[in-house]
Amino acid sequence: MTEGFEGPVPGLPASYFNDPDVFKQVREQVFFRTWQYACHVSQLPNPGDYMTFSLFEEDIVVLRDREGGLRALFNVCQHRGHRLVEGSGNKRLLVCPYHAWSYDLDGRLKGAPASETVEGFDRSKVCIPSIRLEEFLGFVFVNLDPDAEPMDRCYPGVREAILELCPDIEDRKFAAEHGIDEGCNWMVAVENYNECYHCKIAHPDFAKGIIDPASYGIAPFGEGKVLMHSSLPTQDDGAWYDVSGSDYGSFYLWPAASIQIYPGGVVNNYYWRPLAVDDTRVYRGWFSDDGAVDETLERVIELDRTTTFAEDLVLVRNVQRGIQSRGYNPGPLVINRQGGIDSELSIACLHRWLREAVDAPRPHA
Ligand code: FES
Ligand SMILES: [Fe+2]
Repeated sequence: MTEGFEGPVPGLPASYFNDPDVFKQVREQVFFRTWQYACHVSQLPNPGDYMTFSLFEEDIVVLRDREGGLRALFNVCQHRGHRLVEGSGNKRLLVCPYHAWSYDLDGRLKGAPASETVEGFDRSKVCIPSIRLEEFLGFVFVNLDPDAEPMDRCYPGVREAILELCPDIEDRKFAAEHGIDEGCNWMVAVENYNECYHCKIAHPDFAKGIIDPASYGIAPFGEGKVLMHSSLPTQDDGAWYDVSGSDYGSFYLWPAASIQIYPGGVVNNYYWRPLAVDDTRVYRGWFSDDGAVDETLERVIELDRTTTFAEDLVLVRNVQRGIQSRGYNPGPLVINRQGGIDSELSIACLHRWLREAVDAPRPHA
């Protein structure tokens, strides 16, 4: 993965972060063609349970159908386009609040008031389009591209590597999540997440409480668009909890999700939703054996939220301002071919993946 990265590798021109046309391409070429984290299976335990979210202007509902399977549908009524359901909850049918068309949990139209007065009205011809969905070790992902490769082909080897670090990850349950608008382009946020060159300076607590900076590294993983962060547990007295048992490993799955195993098997995640060319919402989730937040997990969540998470927020907001300056000329990346905590090889990979997606000639351009 270091081919093409010999000598000083220049940073990405700021237009990739600032240009609204690039952002439109990112929506089509990146986010509508790749796997996006939706929720955890444990958040939809019963038939009829559903949750909603938006990806750019697309409203999506993920639900558990009557047979117990998970499905993703566009959250849009096929009558005149009203959104079908809001938030999360449990429904026997999806009933549109506008004119009360009702749909089965598989998307088929069940009833449409007064439609019997319409000669030839064929209910069976109306169905909410479904969206690809996959369960990946308990994490539910969707993909708007019906022809997308399955996750195991997009991210080969990740499933096995995560199971090696955390064999019982599929028994985990959703425990807590918080999100915040970062006020920066999505790539600024994702870049910040995927390098630890700033960790010793910006995250003294993380560098003592969780990881061991001397063994930390972020490197491309396998054949897919994946970056793996790895480290031994912290060797410092300032550990946030009992970190013994297993190492730290985090798997960033292009473009906007990451599954993290903190030392000792504390499972958590990050995912990002671009909101505008200069705004992104980041979410931080935590998982436990029974879905409860015990005292230790509560302390870890709070320490993370008030240190690493808060510290990164300040950094990315600051960078967003800088990349919009006419005085910014991207400097070379600091790439150490030996790896290590200070290498920005991961940033070069992200830039390459973004350029592959948005620089390629478009068939319908
Ligand atoms: S738009 Fe949904 S029933 Fe009319
Ligand atoms: Fe950071």
